[in-house]
Amino acid sequence: MQTSKILTTILFLASAFSALAQNQLLIPVALTGTNFDLTIQNGEVEFVPGVMTSTLGINGNILGPTLILEKGETVEIDIHNTLDEITTIHWHGFHIPAEMDGGPHTPIAPGETWSPTFTILDHAATMWYHPHLMHTTYKHVMMGLAGLVIIKDAEEAALNLPRTYGVDDIPLVFQTKVIDENGQINPDMDVAGLDTLVLTNGTPDAYFDCPAQIVRFRMLNASSERSYSIGLSNNAPFSVIGSDGGLLTSPASLTRLLMSPGERYEILVDLSGMEGETVSIMNHGSDIPFRVYGTESILPMGGGDPIPYYDQNHLNGANFSLLDINVVAPTESPVTEIPATLVASTSWDTSVIDNERSISMGTGSGGPGSITGPFMLNGVEFDMNVINEVIDLDDMEVWTITNQTPIAHPFHIHDIQFNILELNGQAPPPHMGGWKDVVLVSAQMGTAKFVTRFEDFADPVVPYMYHCHILVHEEGGMMGQFVVVDPNGINGVIENEEFSIYPNPASDNIKIELINAGEETISVRDISGRIVMTSNIFGVSTSMDISSFTAGVYFVTVGNTTARFIKE
Ligand code: C2O
Ligand code: CU
Ligand code: CU
Repeated sequence: MQTSKILTTILFLASAFSALAQNQLLIPVALTGTNFDLTIQNGEVEFVPGVMTSTLGINGNILGPTLILEKGETVEIDIHNTLDEITTIHWHGFHIPAEMDGGPHTPIAPGETWSPTFTILDHAATMWYHPHLMHTTYKHVMMGLAGLVIIKDAEEAALNLPRTYGVDDIPLVFQTKVIDENGQINPDMDVAGLDTLVLTNGTPDAYFDCPAQIVRFRMLNASSERSYSIGLSNNAPFSVIGSDGGLLTSPASLTRLLMSPGERYEILVDLSGMEGETVSIMNHGSDIPFRVYGTESILPMGGGDPIPYYDQNHLNGANFSLLDINVVAPTESPVTEIPATLVASTSWDTSVIDNERSISMGTGSGGPGSITGPFMLNGVEFDMNVINEVIDLDDMEVWTITNQTPIAHPFHIHDIQFNILELNGQAPPPHMGGWKDVVLVSAQMGTAKFVTRFEDFADPVVPYMYHCHILVHEEGGMMGQFVVVDPNGINGVIENEEFSIYPNPASDNIKIELINAGEETISVRDISGRIVMTSNIFGVSTSMDISSFTAGVYFVTVGNTTARFIKE
């Protein structure tokens, strides 16, 4: 894109939006029950009057329905991909089996249906779903694919909280999009820094009528890069009642709340007695911390490149409305008080720590001062064929993330909710003291330390992901994968118990030797779960020629037992 075109884009947007009347906030359709049908489809939306913008949506033109799920229920979700390209749907925040998680190893081909089924084990919380295919996550999310999930449970139901969806319990999905001079979304990561179109629930310049009482907002930052410093236009305090994975033990009163990509917070805003007034939920861009995407300026260090177009993006460092609230008459039975306490506990029992890991966020070939990537975790860029961490089922682990780059990164991990122990060496503030699955790690040696337990789901074959939730960074290499293995179970990675494999790593041939002679079939799968070779064993041992395999991790299954080997 040339500068002239970019300037046209910025002018185009400025003129289009100054002339715009306000738009009523779209409230995504809510679906309840245990069986869901989701169709990923092409759509179009009139963001700018008179211009139809091509989008992607789920059961509609943009975003997807809000799924309302009950803890303990088993759900089945049929996801139809009507696009002409592969995608996936990941259940962000959910504690579910790896094969149901919808990461990059679970593609949904064009025309195909994927039907994950899982039991809801999480606390009452606001979760979300979005595509997660390597190389198209950014594009598919930018084009409109994402949806919210509300999980309900008995503990939440016992509290006197607003919970009438779309009335006093309002979903807010914050995103910015890159719009070109024709009013079309530009899904090319090279121009990601031009994310100038602000959407709340897919609505530009949004307003909503809210009753004059305590109103709950379930906020999700579904932006590909941008963080927001959330606050009210009148600077009144609001109460944070929940973070990524559930409610807090008690509300935390704040006037500013930093939200990085992937994070969710539930807040209560007291609009009592304000009928007829207007107040806005703002992004106070001027309060976004140093070196966090959304602040006025982020400079590379030591000769790195600046983020393309960042300095031309008028949203950076700016204060702007995400939702204008027109306060209308209260409902018949409003919630009028903010509960003093919420749920009993939001912490893992950390009396025994089984293992500790360190993850360093670093730069790749862009040089040590790069803010544009490529980025690495523990010195390597993401590779679909490499399992970076192997975790024993049921282990309580402490992870320390250190950011060696000059830009902040929101670290996200699948499968679990964690408790933040320390942020830059300090205890986290109260609103970050509960269940989290994303933590923003500040630039220039910022650290985050968290504790979590890897329970319930072992699978030596299908990995879970951990990554930066700035999608440009995730796709730029800042992702790793882990498998959870059961050291005692038949599905675990067991070597030298039923059989042994050697050499490991291997380059040409592997030899498989049974502990007890017999007749068995052998299958070898690659990291995506595809069977790449089968053989039989009669007696004690056999040898397999693997010289044609590409380098990476492979899984050998003999009978009910799976073991891992590495092809060099
Ligand atoms: Cu929101 Cu790996 O995902
Ligand atoms: Cu996730
Ligand atoms: Cu990042």
